[in-house]
Amino acid sequence: HDDCSLSKIQMEMPDLSANTVIDHPRALTDKIALIRDAGPSKFQVIADFDATLTKYRVNGVRGQTSHGLLQQGNADYDAKRQALYEHYRPLEISPVIPIEEKTKLMEEWWGKTHDLLIEGGLTYDAIKKSVADSSIAFREGVTELFEFLEKKEIPVLIFSAGLADVIEEVLRQNLHRTFKNVKIVSNRMVFDDDGRLVSFKGKLIHVLNKNEHALDMAAPLHDQLGVDGNEENEGNAYVKQRTNVLLLGDHLGDLRMSDGLNYETRISVGFLNDNIEKSLESYRKAFDLVYLNDASMWGALELVSQLF
Ligand code: TMP
Repeated sequence: HDDCSLSKIQMEMPDLSANTVIDHPRALTDKIALIRDAGPSKFQVIADFDATLTKYRVNGVRGQTSHGLLQQGNADYDAKRQALYEHYRPLEISPVIPIEEKTKLMEEWWGKTHDLLIEGGLTYDAIKKSVADSSIAFREGVTELFEFLEKKEIPVLIFSAGLADVIEEVLRQNLHRTFKNVKIVSNRMVFDDDGRLVSFKGKLIHVLNKNEHALDMAAPLHDQLGVDGNEENEGNAYVKQRTNVLLLGDHLGDLRMSDGLNYETRISVGFLNDNIEKSLESYRKAFDLVYLNDASMWGALELVSQLF
């Protein structure tokens, strides 16, 4: 690229205001060109859910997560899960616990929480009500981003260590429609005929393993991906052949969401929601593009509409 085309693309770049930080504009424009040339059939979007697709703050207070919003309709069990949160959350964010030990602790936390949800008799109706009563909101532009990608038949994988069924209900209630190109890779519940939770499907996804084999975890979703046939890994092949990626996250660890993919070109977008002064240096080095201050999704939409 000569400087002329570089500045042209920069001018076209979304929301290039004080809220956007791009460490290497030229590297970004090169990636844009590569992804554009390969075409939409080679492209997918991988997004974190909490505080990436959703707002960090809702009406001035910290927005809720898929776990945080869930009220079982059984106060004892809600209190038990809250007590677990108070015990394990400081361990999750502790910088001094070795990773193997922390992994065991996180397996313990998720396991106990899932057991409490089953024991406490969680129903699908309670999920619907919890979501209706929650303070959770998508960033502006998320619907439009999904619509754009749907038209272009580009898949969106949402990775979360939260609860798939809750996330899907949040999508349904807040976006007022479903998208056949949007898939959730998260902990999925099994309900009996009375709509009561009886078990969880597949491998437990917690905060430390969510990125390890994230793409492999997408494999059992082949049925939902609208892929014909019943081979276990067809959904996986469907996403694995799309080797150009737009990755959306709010933590440095989210960059690992594309680990299972032997990607060719990746554009990473980081939402830096909090502790901006302390974290900006590491975010700007790690992500191609950083949005500050609980930004909207318009920038990401603008970016993909420049691609295709
Ligand atoms: P994620 O949304 O970044 O994938 O991570 C899920 C978060 O859920 C993680 O930070 C811890 C939190 N969590 C709860 O709030 N309550 C729970 O019961 C569990 C197991 C996790």
